[in-house]
Amino acid sequence: MLIKKVVIPVAGLGTRFLPATKSTPKEMLPVVDKPLIQYAVEEASKAGIEEFIFITHHSKSSIKKHFEEDSDLFNKLMEDGKEDLASTIKNIGGSEAKFTYIEQGEPKGLGHAISCAKDAIDEDEWFFVILPDDLFMTKGANVTEQMIDIAKSENRQVLALQKIENEEISKYGVISPTSTNGKISTIDGIVEKPDYADAPSNLASIGRYLFKQTIFNHIDNDNPGKNGEVQITDAILSDIENFIGYEFDGLRFDCGSKSGYLKANIEFGLADEELSVELRSFIEEKKNL
Ligand code: UTP
Repeated sequence: MLIKKVVIPVAGLGTRFLPATKSTPKEMLPVVDKPLIQYAVEEASKAGIEEFIFITHHSKSSIKKHFEEDSDLFNKLMEDGKEDLASTIKNIGGSEAKFTYIEQGEPKGLGHAISCAKDAIDEDEWFFVILPDDLFMTKGANVTEQMIDIAKSENRQVLALQKIENEEISKYGVISPTSTNGKISTIDGIVEKPDYADAPSNLASIGRYLFKQTIFNHIDNDNPGKNGEVQITDAILSDIENFIGYEFDGLRFDCGSKSGYLKANIEFGLADEELSVELRSFIEEKKNL
């Protein structure tokens, strides 16, 4: 099983971050000094992925610009002896990276966004999907690498799972596990944004998916689901016997929400050599208020 392509949907409106996202894509918001979208590309690149397929909107041209070479800036930084900074803007995604941009038109839901990649994926090909607003901090293998390993050993499509607090569960697609062995669950159902009382478990599907090309046969763009959106969970449900769930190792930050985004900045800031001492003492100071 060779996984060479990742689909990254970035065509959403990002309304929870207005007014910041009026003219800046949510996916371009930085955590410390790097836009969310770059974390997504670097995660996939580390897992051996070389083709990045963005499902985008014409208002989000800054994302394309971010991945283009800027030789003027690069040369200027080099002339000024700032090699370290210059290296941060060169070959993002690796020297073999190929970027493809597909317009979604209207944001009709995640299922619809993923279906826009249909022509870019070959028959029977396996591919990864990353939602860039879910940001992870891991110690060893990153979440994409972990899931590719699981798919190889189980030969199934994989949903990343996280145990979610009761009051948050209605924001997620929630799986119904039939059996759980360590971090891997077999599944016989998935419900999009259930009320807490109806949730089949506390295990939610979060923003990483490993699909086979056959998923496109299960996305029904003519029949929107919950909240009038074409939900990827409906497509997954119609092919559920070919999926397993995997509880990843690491920390997840929901950077689509303001609190998750702020927590990510603190956690990544504390992990940054230049910032950690000052940030830690600022947090200490605030603790005493
Ligand atoms: P969200 O569900 O967080 O939606 O999308 P959103 O529109 O970005 O944000 P809010 O809820 O209005 O604040 C998760 C990911 O899926 C993409 C988004 O760009 C984001 O990266 N997406 C969502 C699409 O590309 N198209 C869609 O139709 C919906």
